[in-house]
Amino acid sequence: MTRVPLLSAEGLVSGYGGAMVLHGVSFSLAEGEILAILGKNGMGKSTLLKTIMGFVAAREGAISFAGQDSTGRSPHLMARDGIAYAPQEFTIFQDLTVEENLRLGAPSDTVFNARVDRLENVFPRMLERLKQRAGTLSGGEQKMLLMSRALLAEPKVMLIDEISEGLQPTMIARMAEALSTARETFGCAILIVEQHLAFALKVADRYAVLKLGEIVEEGAAGDPSAASALAEHLKV
Ligand SMILES: Nc1ncnc2c1ncn2[C@@H]1O[C@H](COP(=O)(O)OP(=O)(O)OP(=O)(O)O)[C@@H](O)[C@H]1O
Ligand SMILES: [Mg+2]
Repeated sequence: MTRVPLLSAEGLVSGYGGAMVLHGVSFSLAEGEILAILGKNGMGKSTLLKTIMGFVAAREGAISFAGQDSTGRSPHLMARDGIAYAPQEFTIFQDLTVEENLRLGAPSDTVFNARVDRLENVFPRMLERLKQRAGTLSGGEQKMLLMSRALLAEPKVMLIDEISEGLQPTMIARMAEALSTARETFGCAILIVEQHLAFALKVADRYAVLKLGEIVEEGAAGDPSAASALAEHLKV
């Protein structure tokens, strides 16, 4: 069965000033699917997510989301359309409580109250710490908060930038489980960009490798040859 793409890009070219970083990137993500785009430092992973969200302009190519042409659409409209973005930088408010940070992710208090319990399955720790100041959470917990806030918007797609970066192995394993549960509980598709091979293959249905702004390899994450094909591209 061919799945209809929910989010797709065709021949994306983008960059900063006169220097292009993406040189014609194409991919597609189906409803409920998890796709991992892997690449080493500086290969353009964050630039790809920023281009999809509209923070960086696409100079060439097209982005389509939920059946409409979204090329050139502003970030706030992409968010309203149903794309949640968890950036690589920490963007939680350190001086607010966990609950106050979470409320920022919901369109109203009514919606917040109705949805917050659904985090129980995904990040139970967040519900235990609602009154705690966010700046006192560990690095891994702050990432959980970032993801929880994104989930409260009930997005159709989550774009997640290197969630495994800087985390301990036990936290990485917990995060992998949480992403699978998030997909089940909230019914969203997920696009992760990653350097962590094992994490990406555990979480994703499919992978693609981004090298110097181009997709150079693609496959099914469950394919026995995936790890060796990927290791070759991610070698330092
Ligand atoms: N705001 C910017 N202005 C100019 N160049 C930038 C900017 N942001 C990124 N770049 C350049 O674009 C290229 C790709 O960067 P990008 O952040 O997309 O890579 P990445 O794959 O996310 O890397 P990392 O794994 O380190 O996060 C790099 O050469 C980087 O220096
Ligand atoms: Mg990056």
